[in-house]
Amino acid sequence: MAVGERVTVDLLGDARTITMLRERALASMDRAYAPYSNFKVGAALLGSDGSVTEGCNVENASYPATMCAERTAISGAVARGIRSFEAIAIATEAEEPTPPCGICRQVLEEFSPHLVVLAFTRDGREARWTLDELMPKAFTPHSLDRR
Ligand code: THU
Repeated sequence: MAVGERVTVDLLGDARTITMLRERALASMDRAYAPYSNFKVGAALLGSDGSVTEGCNVENASYPATMCAERTAISGAVARGIRSFEAIAIATEAEEPTPPCGICRQVLEEFSPHLVVLAFTRDGREARWTLDELMPKAFTPHSLDRR
């Protein structure tokens, strides 16, 4: 293979990857700090390099200072030098799988507009979207070029 040639690996093609992401998101959910809402959220972010970065919501007595699980995960990954992602798994104790909030969609969009978003509930329900679907006509870094 030539130096610099890109290898496209379908990281999500293996069902075990999805199981692993679900388990890591559920484990992160158990570490959530959510004493005000009692709505715990866990996230597991799959980097294009195969890495997994976990996150959970971290609430604050000053309510707007709260960080969502998805954004704690992406901040952790970027701090480790990872800026390209394949998928994010989100876990909650809700009855139905929940998609990321609007602020998190915007933050995910910055790095990976084609991200696969997987949502799981504690009792086994799941949903799958792409970020393109959840965030049509997004404001992206390219939008800044249109000045
Ligand atoms: N939350 C997340 O962590 N991710 C989302 O996408 C939606 C909301 C958190 C924020 C807050 O701690 C709690 O869930 C209730 O809104």
